[in-house]
Amino acid sequence: MFFNTPKMFEDLISQRLLLRAPRYKDAEDIFEFCGDAGSCKYVDWSPHQSIAESRNFISYLKSRSFRGEGKSYTWFVELMSERKVIATISLVDSDYYGNIATVGYTFSEKYQHRGFATEALLSLMRYLFNVKNFERIEAKVLPENLPSIALLERVGMKREGLLRKGVFCKTCLRDVYIYSILKDEFTRRK
Ligand SMILES: CC(C)(COP(=O)(O)OP(=O)(O)OC[C@H]1O[C@@H](n2cnc3c(N)ncnc32)[C@H](O)[C@@H]1OP(=O)(O)O)[C@@H](O)C(=O)NCCC(=O)NCCS
Repeated sequence: MFFNTPKMFEDLISQRLLLRAPRYKDAEDIFEFCGDAGSCKYVDWSPHQSIAESRNFISYLKSRSFRGEGKSYTWFVELMSERKVIATISLVDSDYYGNIATVGYTFSEKYQHRGFATEALLSLMRYLFNVKNFERIEAKVLPENLPSIALLERVGMKREGLLRKGVFCKTCLRDVYIYSILKDEFTRRK
């Protein structure tokens, strides 16, 4: 078996999107959706209160990637035609000895229902399986988050079960579905 080692992550390009490293000048774009209660409804963090908080968030992401720990990484999703950041997509955790990746994402409400999340997630999955040699990609999702469940099933992930009180979300522990896809399933799917 191929074992991953701690690593840095590259930018990824697909038809309409550039998944790239966070930059300080993205703070306004990030605040536009990370400050919006609608976009943050089902995630484990609270909406940003100011552009300054979005800048701090970027600073945190940059310091984390600078340390090069390789267990987690966030890409900003830039819509190339508008040169605008419309989402974040993350490797929220990874076990690089076991080659398991956990992913998460938040898309601006203004840019939903246009296939951008599908495009970005497929781009990330292709990269993690084909370039970074992960064997399994998983995601956790609250049962009421139907758009996210639809997205995970659209890209070929399977629901494995319900983790009881499996995630701390904002104020309390919540039940959460666990979804996954294996490398050979993803390869066969194409
Ligand atoms: C989860 C989330 C990313 C899903 O976003 P989304 O916009 O529904 O997903 P997509 O961008 O892939 O769009 C899919 C829709 O676009 C349509 N679409 C249009 N053009 C498309 C294209 N080229 N390719 C694929 N789908 C396309 C699809 O038919 C689908 O329509 P539907 O919503 O009517 O079924 C989004 O709801 C979100 O960010 N929510 C807030 C944060 C969150 O909950 N994160 C997840 C925590 S687990």
